Amino acid sequence: MAHLGKRVVLIGTGFVGSSYAFALLNQGITEELVLIDVNQEKAEGDAMDLNHGLPFSPSPTKIWFGDYRDCENADLVVITAGANQKPEETRLDLVHKNMKIFESIVSEVMKSGFNGIFLVATNPVDVLTYATWKFSGLPHERVIGSGTILDTARFRYLLGQYFRVDARNVHAYIIGEHGDTELPVWSHADIGGKAVTEFIRERKQYKQEDLETIFANVRDAAYHIIERKGATYYGIAMGLARLTKAILQNENSVLTVSAYLNGEYGHADIYIGVPAIVNRGGIREIVELKLSEAEKEKFSHSATVLKNVLNPFFGNKAHPS
Ligand SMILES: NC(=O)c1ccc[n+]([C@@H]2O[C@H](COP(=O)([O-])OP(=O)(O)OC[C@H]3O[C@@H](n4cnc5c(N)ncnc54)[C@H](O)[C@@H]3O)[C@@H](O)[C@H]2O)c1
Repeated sequence: MAHLGKRVVLIGTGFVGSSYAFALLNQGITEELVLIDVNQEKAEGDAMDLNHGLPFSPSPTKIWFGDYRDCENADLVVITAGANQKPEETRLDLVHKNMKIFESIVSEVMKSGFNGIFLVATNPVDVLTYATWKFSGLPHERVIGSGTILDTARFRYLLGQYFRVDARNVHAYIIGEHGDTELPVWSHADIGGKAVTEFIRERKQYKQEDLETIFANVRDAAYHIIERKGATYYGIAMGLARLTKAILQNENSVLTVSAYLNGEYGHADIYIGVPAIVNRGGIREIVELKLSEAEKEKFSHSATVLKNVLNPFFGNKAHPS
């Protein structure tokens, strides 16, 4: 198919992938959208269904069910293919199944001559983003994981509810593994420029233990949703659409993504969730926050857990740089 404009190729049109495609179309973010799935009928059916929404979309989008050759001219390849968590399963439990799938997907993409940006959402996302970087041979700034973008959104939503403020006016990050060892950065959490810790100090109705419950609900949100409906997808789909817009429109937006560390935060040779400036070139720069000692320790623990998972595959060393 001739190249008409900004092209996104989506690999994996399951719950997350098809919700992401729907979000892209609704927001008019890309000019071309190619759908690939090992279940070809599903991808084809999704392309048909999405095309029927075109008369209602804010701008024209060319959507088709394609194959790996379509990656040659892609600006962005988004991978949401692979197994998802079953009840009681952690994200790290998925690593063996999904690593194999990634080896074959990334090699197919690269065979096409692809030279754009990868965006990975499949879990365990930090590990599979590292694997995508290794398998592709692309510069690390052009391989991005969705990291803690969703956890950060959940955090802002719950803080917004608690303080009765629009979630978009809450500035607060979840960093580290997208998983059980992630951490909240309370030392840099603010609402309209006023520190959350100050709200707690000044007003009796707000309590430290409530903040701890908020974080626990963020960290365990996927378990709570999976128990109820089997999978989570709308939140991550909107997060991926947000990231896609930041990339294709060269926004230089600060988003919490899984980014490659090369000494930042005292760690190297790892992909992990941190705030980063995202633009048309991928990750322009990592925003290095001055963490408290307790936050540094938790972040190091999270990095060590991820390195221990990467080690059998890529020989990563579990010590900070
Ligand atoms: N990063 C996040 O914040 C986040 C949030 C939610 C889910 N996820 C992850 O996203 C992934 C997808 O979840 P889901 O609920 O959409 O799962 P799903 O089972 O609904 O979809 C997965 C899709 O991948 C396809 N697939 C499998 N192997 C493939 C291959 N080799 N090539 C092409 N397609 C292949 C399947 O046919 C299926 O359509 C999971 O790993 C899940 O844990 C991540």
